[in-house]
Amino acid sequence: MDWGLKNRLSRIIKSHDNRALMLAVDHGYFLGPTEKLEEPNKVVAPLLKYCDSLMVTRGVQRTSVPATSDTPMVLRVSGGSSIIGDDLSQEDITVSLEDAIRLNASAVAMSIFVGSKYEYQTIVNLGKLVSEAERYGMPVLAVTAVGKELGKDARYLSLACRIAAEQGAHIVKTYYCDNFEKVVQSCPVPIIVAGGKKIPERDALQLTYNAIKAGAVGVDMGRNIWQSEHPVAMIQAARSIIHGNSNVEQAYNLYKKLSTQSKSKKLNNPTQSKSKKLNNPTQSKK
Ligand code: 5RP
Repeated sequence: MDWGLKNRLSRIIKSHDNRALMLAVDHGYFLGPTEKLEEPNKVVAPLLKYCDSLMVTRGVQRTSVPATSDTPMVLRVSGGSSIIGDDLSQEDITVSLEDAIRLNASAVAMSIFVGSKYEYQTIVNLGKLVSEAERYGMPVLAVTAVGKELGKDARYLSLACRIAAEQGAHIVKTYYCDNFEKVVQSCPVPIIVAGGKKIPERDALQLTYNAIKAGAVGVDMGRNIWQSEHPVAMIQAARSIIHGNSNVEQAYNLYKKLSTQSKSKKLNNPTQSKSKKLNNPTQSKK
């Protein structure tokens, strides 16, 4: 593997423990202003320092992530369909590698829709993207999309992940399922698990724990963090599993402790915490 590619990958999957915590905020590319992600800058600001990398679209990166940030960006480069359109699987590459490099991306990401009407188009696009990206030492993350008509079991996800890896994807993002070890075993590249739709916090932490135990390098979690009542507490709890080897009980206790603290801070001092931030923006970072 070329030095540049290795270096970019190591920004996403941390070499000290081979784990990754990616925060996904790319949902608007087909969902529009989805619940609690209506103003991406407000979601990103308090969470940025707790994730290893951020999965974004170029529009959100440019408008809602400070250019001074040293958090690695995983840039979504596919799109073309919407939640109200005919077929979500009809995606193409929408962002050039040149733009990804200009945006200082640490990886590019696209979805493949195995078993869908546009299977051929999306898999061929993945192969082409890998060929082009490797020229610049840019890792490619393949997202194995699932839909109503597509499966979400180990058999289907093993097929989709393996196809993504065979096309040369450097990381594969997929969904957790029963017998997830099988999906991991038959995929020769690192797997990162999407959080999926919002579930209770304890369940999302259980999913994170199970995914890691089954061999995933980490999670690329979106809704289960920023749709939580306490996103900052939630990301720290997930982080404690991924990088701190916490079990579910420990992580959930941390979530409860941090969310109680943030609730009482707001209750005790609703205006002061606002003015503190205004007077001393660095203080709010602590
Ligand atoms: C959308 C995506 C999302 O980034 C992915 O689904 C992760 O987010 P969530 O945890 O909310 O599922 O790739 O296609």
